[in-house]
Amino acid sequence: MSPSSSLLQLSFLFSLFLWLGCAIAATPPVPVGNISRVEDAEYFNIYYGHTFKVIKNGVDGMSYLLIQNTSRMATKTKYCTPRIKSFVVPLANYSVDTTYFPVSFFELLGMVGSMKGITSDSITSECVLQWYQSGEIELVNKTDPKQLTQFSAHFIGTTEGQQACNFATFLPSEEDTPLQRAEWIKYLGTFGNLETRANEVFDAVKTNYLCLSRAAANKTTSFKPVVAWLLYSEGMWSFVKEEYKMKYVVDAGGESLDDSISKSIYNVSIPDDLDNFHAILCTIDVVIDETYAPEPTAYTISTFLDNTKAQDNSSFPFLTNGRFWRYDKRIHDAAPLDWFDGGISQPQLVLADLIEAFFPSGNYNTTYFRNLGKEEGVISIVPDKCGRDSSTPMDPVIVPCQ
Ligand SMILES: *[C@@H]1O[C@H](CO)[C@@H](O)[C@H](O)[C@H]1NC(C)=O
Ligand SMILES: *[C@@H]1O[C@H](CO)[C@@H](O)[C@H](O)[C@H]1NC(C)=O
Ligand SMILES: *[C@@H]1O[C@H](CO)[C@@H](O)[C@H](O)[C@H]1NC(C)=O
Ligand SMILES: *[C@@H]1O[C@H](CO)[C@@H](O)[C@H](O)[C@H]1NC(C)=O
Ligand SMILES: *[C@@H]1O[C@H](CO)[C@@H](O)[C@H](O)[C@H]1NC(C)=O
Ligand SMILES: *[C@@H]1O[C@H](CO)[C@@H](O)[C@H](O)[C@H]1NC(C)=O
Ligand SMILES: *[C@@H]1O[C@H](CO)[C@@H](O)[C@H](O)[C@H]1NC(C)=O
Ligand SMILES: *[C@@H]1O[C@H](CO)[C@@H](O)[C@H](O)[C@H]1NC(C)=O
Repeated sequence: MSPSSSLLQLSFLFSLFLWLGCAIAATPPVPVGNISRVEDAEYFNIYYGHTFKVIKNGVDGMSYLLIQNTSRMATKTKYCTPRIKSFVVPLANYSVDTTYFPVSFFELLGMVGSMKGITSDSITSECVLQWYQSGEIELVNKTDPKQLTQFSAHFIGTTEGQQACNFATFLPSEEDTPLQRAEWIKYLGTFGNLETRANEVFDAVKTNYLCLSRAAANKTTSFKPVVAWLLYSEGMWSFVKEEYKMKYVVDAGGESLDDSISKSIYNVSIPDDLDNFHAILCTIDVVIDETYAPEPTAYTISTFLDNTKAQDNSSFPFLTNGRFWRYDKRIHDAAPLDWFDGGISQPQLVLADLIEAFFPSGNYNTTYFRNLGKEEGVISIVPDKCGRDSSTPMDPVIVPCQ
């Protein structure tokens, strides 16, 4: 049999398996153990068969056939096509392209023990850094293809570039709401047969998030605080309107700046633009300043005042009422922000921060946001602060909520 006809036959078999799997999932499932069902996320799905499962990634169209290591299929079947790849699960080991990859999902699952390679130590997790420091994880050279194929799987956070047979994409940030992003823990959990754990974590996170959101809805007196996410770059200020950020604002009891009054970009060198921008700023109760800062500790209210060409700190309500924030509180070596890692896997903490930002109580310590109005500093992420054995699961933080 020629290689291509055997491949054809394999893909036929695969379709059959898929069909069987879907049929099984639709009718009462045969006892296949613990399964995850997708409730909120839009961009992935999981189908269960008897000895395998299939994840479909709706962002890049990839299907991953995950074959149980105890089944006969595990030794016989291997797929690596542009749309279908196979993996034997639970993964014996894996590596991660740590550029913009939220490793905290692995921690919540308790999968850090089999993490054996990372492409850089730009990571915002104390415990993964400690695991690396203790010699359990090796640094792999991203530009050397051989080094990326030595593990059972190599997880990447982008759809760009060449992908080897063991690459698997993980793309929670493509979702539009905080809970949808967090539910991607179920996607990773399937690679470790950790569905039960993934379900537990997501349920705990979601319950806490929804409780906090209900409590926030009660805090508003007559008006909701008006909130803006701002960004300054190359002489221009803009309002950031990503879906999940708008959702956070609503869920934390605030209101986003009305679309109808804000043009999107303001050039500070054009006097009319600057006047318009200042006028709008005067209507805003809470500002989250996302401006990139190579040295986050050096970004203060005076940086903001310089960038807005404003004279003093008494001109804007969010400055006089101390509600001027940035999400760079937890950082590792000035570069990666935990906002892009833990902030994705534990949205209940982000929500709790925002509720404190919108309705300051003074007795809640925020996790990701620092109050520039109070000259709050940053927290450096260092391996010594890992408070547990890195290979054990991290529990999500549940914020007190009645
Ligand atoms: C399902 O998960 C629970 C808790 O992790 C475990 O005790 C049980 O053995 C699992 N069942 C199967 C069939 O894997
Ligand atoms: C399957 O995976 C489990 C858990 O990692 C391991 O204990 C077992 O030895 C593996 N079985 C085979 C046949 O590889
Ligand atoms: C990584 O691999 C590439 C290609 O093999 C090589 O040119 C480069 O020197 C390596 N970098 C390091 C730091 O070893
Ligand atoms: C990863 O696990 C696979 C499957 O058990 C094994 O063949 C491979 O040698 C392991 N890779 C490394 C680098 O340990
Ligand atoms: C909202 O406030 C009302 C009146 O104070 C109270 O009865 C109710 O339990 C609160 N709801 C929540 C979800 O906190
Ligand atoms: C902003 O306006 C100034 C003055 O008109 C102009 O020179 C500059 O190119 C503008 N900046 C951008 C990014 O368009
Ligand atoms: C504004 O600036 C003055 C002088 O620099 C300072 O004393 C005051 O605390 C600042 N107020 C706020 C709200 O930051
Ligand atoms: C906030 O953190 C400070 C410093 O670690 C601590 O002293 C204080 O008790 C904390 N406050 C609350 C409400 O947890």
